[in-house]
Amino acid sequence: LKVDPFDLIVFGGTGDLAHRKLFPALFRRFLDGQFAAPTHIIGVSRGQMSSAEYRATIAQALQQFSGEAASAETLKTFLDMIDYVSLDVGAEDGWSVLEKHLSGDPSRVRAFYLATAPDRFGVIAKQLAAHGLVTPASRIIVEKPIGRDSASAARINDAIGAVFSEGQIFRIDHYLGKETVQNLMALRFANALFEPLWNSAHIDHVEITVAESIGVEGRAAYYDAAGALRDMVQNHLLQLLCLIAMEPPNSMQADSVRDEKLKVLKSLAPIDASNAATSTVRGQYHAGASNGGAVPSYTQDVGNEKSATETFVALKVSVANWRWAGAPFYLRTGKRLPQRVSEVVVVFRAIPHSIFNVESGRISKTRLVIRLQPDEGIKLWLMLKEPGAGGMRLRYVPLDMNFAEAFQIYAPEAYERLLMDVIRGNATLFMRRDEVEAAWRWIDPIREAWSQLNEPPRPYFAGTWGPAAAIALVERDGRSWNEEII
Ligand code: BG6
Repeated sequence: LKVDPFDLIVFGGTGDLAHRKLFPALFRRFLDGQFAAPTHIIGVSRGQMSSAEYRATIAQALQQFSGEAASAETLKTFLDMIDYVSLDVGAEDGWSVLEKHLSGDPSRVRAFYLATAPDRFGVIAKQLAAHGLVTPASRIIVEKPIGRDSASAARINDAIGAVFSEGQIFRIDHYLGKETVQNLMALRFANALFEPLWNSAHIDHVEITVAESIGVEGRAAYYDAAGALRDMVQNHLLQLLCLIAMEPPNSMQADSVRDEKLKVLKSLAPIDASNAATSTVRGQYHAGASNGGAVPSYTQDVGNEKSATETFVALKVSVANWRWAGAPFYLRTGKRLPQRVSEVVVVFRAIPHSIFNVESGRISKTRLVIRLQPDEGIKLWLMLKEPGAGGMRLRYVPLDMNFAEAFQIYAPEAYERLLMDVIRGNATLFMRRDEVEAAWRWIDPIREAWSQLNEPPRPYFAGTWGPAAAIALVERDGRSWNEEII
């Protein structure tokens, strides 16, 4: 479906996110015929460059990152929509040049994308207002991290909120744009099968793993100041937890969904100095092997021998409400793990009584495995009879659905969906202010507890599943991480 022509202004237009994700996503939506002329995209950054030079950098980025081969003519039509404005956001020059590039039509969507460090968000919002660039149809898109704790998040939200109303603010958590993440909602609320069982009376526990094989990839300064808890748990993992744990919203309307997610965040039992030692594991990778090659340690990667930043976190989380009391959520995420894999595993309770004898085979608990990436799909592990006349032998086998095979259509990347949602004004897959701040309020005491404990992160070798303590965290409770990927 085509969207009306819009103006998109990308601050941080020469940065990594713009090159790797935003322009390739825009290009794919353009190739799909969603853009109507005259749509206009304006890259903004400090460096001096002509629009022609900027287009050449974008063409190169598209070649490297979009995976799309278009004809020279098609590529030119796309690049012709793009301009560049050099601007130091803290200074006064350049804003009038930017204004000249924007449509004067007040009803036309004007989307400001801040692909910059969060400490720039406030000043950019202020400058946009001071230079009269904020129209009623304007929107602002901000990337995580929104702050580094609840106080700084509130300051950033205040600064943006002084200029834009909450309905104009789109806070991106790109995990919400992933097809399979949206499928969590479809699975739960478009099927009669799961919802009646979706509580601690029937579910033993839930595991959420977001594993990466990459290291810090040239983001040393940011990452070393952030660490895995802020970089991944505060946003992506908690958002996944919310989608699994929330009550059915009354509709897919943005505030219905966000109200329910907020309730989950508010129900999370605190982890603080009293229980951090038994509910959390922090790790940091040492030199090891990844993707068949030797890789250096984290401290070498960031050039900071003394760094105590965690690159791995495992948590045992209790959602303290009627639905979930007694069924913990185990979360883990880390860099330099053996493979890139994100998945949610819902483990159902054991059957109350077995009518089969031991020789029939051990009865494993029913498990629903939702693979978010790669090889997106759903597996429901069941006990079934092994074929054969020799008697009743049971086997644990999956009902296996692979999305690529089942649908055989192109699944858009997260940013494609999210950018078009901004233009259409659909905020369902974006974080509301209170959600972001509630998530930080839960994260802050964990950090404080860690600094009180004052222990270095536990070492793990690159290419392994994190510190042994992360396995113990689950095994202590007589459970184990999904063995399929261990
Ligand atoms: C980002 C984090 O938000 O998500 C990165 O800052 C991380 O550290 C990335 O690598 C993972 O995203 P994806 O889509 O590759 O799973």
